[in-house]
Amino acid sequence: MSSGDRSECFLWSAASSNLTMSTFYESDRAVSEYLLFHYGKAEEILPYPDGPVSALNYPIRCVMRFSDDIGYSPKMRVLDLGCAVGRSTFEFARHCGEVVGIDYSNRFIDCANQLRDEGAVSYRYVEQGELTREAVARVPDEIDRDRVRFEQGDAMFLREGLGRFDVILLANLIDRLVDPAKCLASLVDLVKPGGFTVITSPYTWLEEFTPREHWVGAKVSPAGEMTTFGALGQLMNPRFELRGSADLPFLIREHARKFQWSVAQGTLWCRRD
Ligand SMILES: C[S@@+](CC[C@H](N)C(=O)[O-])C[C@H]1O[C@@H](n2cnc3c(N)ncnc32)[C@H](O)[C@@H]1O
Repeated sequence: MSSGDRSECFLWSAASSNLTMSTFYESDRAVSEYLLFHYGKAEEILPYPDGPVSALNYPIRCVMRFSDDIGYSPKMRVLDLGCAVGRSTFEFARHCGEVVGIDYSNRFIDCANQLRDEGAVSYRYVEQGELTREAVARVPDEIDRDRVRFEQGDAMFLREGLGRFDVILLANLIDRLVDPAKCLASLVDLVKPGGFTVITSPYTWLEEFTPREHWVGAKVSPAGEMTTFGALGQLMNPRFELRGSADLPFLIREHARKFQWSVAQGTLWCRRD
């Protein structure tokens, strides 16, 4: 889909049953689920008083959880890698002067660009089976959308000329990459000395996305168990220093009565000089 063909963002097709993991992020279903995940109102996502409300607003919490340590300022350049439909990218623009969102999915980037240009996207989300509900994803009015730009790209093969960033966010990205270590190794050239990388992930390693030999930890070897947190430390050191970690629950609504509740681990890494 070209970025000119914006009507696609409005369509809902129930015929998304033949999805493979690798095509999921180009599907109608993914666009709908992620628009709702990033921009949905609490009553649309979770109309149950007993539901896990602390898991709402994940894209905002990814930006804000380490804000005191980072100290955002309007002079900062930020990269949101694996930005999907861009909510964290826009949230960074409340605080920072230039924010770039990059994602591999053309569908996600087209929706993110429509949100940047028009401030809103209409979409439908599943209630039950073929029954859907109309909704509008909106960028909050007070956010300066001119500070934001989106582009399609591969986190493991980023184009030349992106420049250096004060902050890079990788939210729920590493366990969706074919070779996460390759992406992590490239960060040292993308983050300014003294700058920060925020990595959030539930560490859901699946061979459909990441061949087992490329999993970051989460394996048993003759030397014993290695967690993803432990293996991340080995990959990030010595160029980055761990400055904090936190549990970040999040909720993705599949339909009115089915949700994915997960707990990402957020880690904050400061680039050494
Ligand atoms: C689990 S979603 C997380 C999206 C968003 N950061 C969030 O937290 O809601 C993973 C995202 O990574 C993107 N992605 C997968 N492989 C990628 C790659 N090689 N380069 C850039 N983005 C990729 C997908 O298109 C999808 O938007």
